[in-house]
Amino acid sequence: MTGPKGSLTVEPIRTDVAYQECINADCGARFDVGEPLFECPRCGDLLDVRYDWDRAVLPRRLEDFEEKWSVPGDPLTFSGVWQYHELLPFAPPQHVVTVGEGKTVFQQADRVAPYARMNRGRLFLQYEGMNPSGSFKDNGMTAAFTHARLVGATRAVCASTGNTSASVAMYAAVDGRIPAIVLVGSGRIAYGKLAQALDYGVRMVEVQGDFDTCMRRVKQVASELGIYLMNSLNPFRLEGQKTIMYRVIEGLLWDVPDWLVVPGGNLGNSSAFGKAFKELHEAGLIRRMPRLAVIVADGADTLYRIVNEERLAWNGGRVDDDRIAAFYKQMDREGRRARTVASAIEINRPVNLKKCLRSLEWTGGLVEKVSDQEILDAKAHIGAGGFGCEPASAATVAGVRKLRQAGTIGPDERVACVLTGHPLKDPNITVAYHTMDEQAIGEKYADYSFYAAPHANRPIPVEDDLDKIIHAIQS
Ligand code: F0G
Repeated sequence: MTGPKGSLTVEPIRTDVAYQECINADCGARFDVGEPLFECPRCGDLLDVRYDWDRAVLPRRLEDFEEKWSVPGDPLTFSGVWQYHELLPFAPPQHVVTVGEGKTVFQQADRVAPYARMNRGRLFLQYEGMNPSGSFKDNGMTAAFTHARLVGATRAVCASTGNTSASVAMYAAVDGRIPAIVLVGSGRIAYGKLAQALDYGVRMVEVQGDFDTCMRRVKQVASELGIYLMNSLNPFRLEGQKTIMYRVIEGLLWDVPDWLVVPGGNLGNSSAFGKAFKELHEAGLIRRMPRLAVIVADGADTLYRIVNEERLAWNGGRVDDDRIAAFYKQMDREGRRARTVASAIEINRPVNLKKCLRSLEWTGGLVEKVSDQEILDAKAHIGAGGFGCEPASAATVAGVRKLRQAGTIGPDERVACVLTGHPLKDPNITVAYHTMDEQAIGEKYADYSFYAAPHANRPIPVEDDLDKIIHAIQS
């Protein structure tokens, strides 16, 4: 059955070796796997699925499964980031800190396409919420922790709207050699993310203020105490995040999409993605560049204003710093602060602004903005198409819908949206949207402008009465 190197045979797997069996020794009744039974029809006890192992096709040794997938213990195949180490060759393989990040899902999303006004087979979703800490951040954090080890860092710190803190906390916990501190705005981060960071045992400092306050402070803390900075200011993080694009290209059988759509917050991803494509293009590994569409929230629209209203651009590396400073000054004078249900991207002063402008120039990219309502409606459609995402990620599909309506994106172009975070990162907002339940909405969301749309999937309350339950199911 196995070859000389122990490889698995190509014999088809036999499914006729499986059957159902009652767990009750006095009964032991057997049934076909094709029967939908759920309990033993003879005695009412539980059923097992059993196999006739003598007739099944098994490898000789469990190790033979390595031939089928990545090699455990080898970071260069185990990780969806380091499998592309040739494209981020800054650290020797033995230094790599990995938890097997980047093994994410690329899906042709035909069930979501109509909502995005795209034709069948033209919308693709890259589910980065499938990472170990539930967001794309792990792609960057494996690279940053690897670099931190390389330079002998003894502590790490970050500011966060939630996901960075969860990811930093997870890597610090797994690695065990670089304890971490995270700064979060008090009451500003979604519960899923807060829960993770607390569970991973990180030292969490809740600063009175928002993300921008934390970002300003974390830079001071890092330089004052000499602590390694894990925010996307750190260029090594962005190297890891480039691999999200390699996986999109891999998903398209080594072709590039026409559009790459990403939510914009601190603008690390958009910066990394532009760099990824530029490098591949310069190396002759891709023949054309996709266009980047960065989608921001109406309530956190710094990038939109800077690009579409102020008309600021990369300008070959000579960005007009004075105009950016004047823009921020005006923002402060008006007391304008970011506010959106997509708390992950509730950011006023994105630190990677200039690199993002560079990516926009390299890719002929653009910036669009969407409302909280559009974000949550798109999120419901993404969820109903399978897997799901957190609000910030859904800005992508909402953005595609808007850009389709404007005719900027054609219905037959190939569009890949990066879904940056897992749906369970922010369960409160999802329950609030579907139920408009006041408890779920709570104080946190009370002042946001969204309502339960027709896309809401309302639970049906019903008494404990079989007729009424059946009526609720059938009506
Ligand atoms: N989507 C999610 C789920 C995020 O957590 C973030 C950023 C973004 C999008 C924006 O990405 O910064 O590369 O433009 N979250 C950061 C954090 C700021 O602290 O977790 P970006």
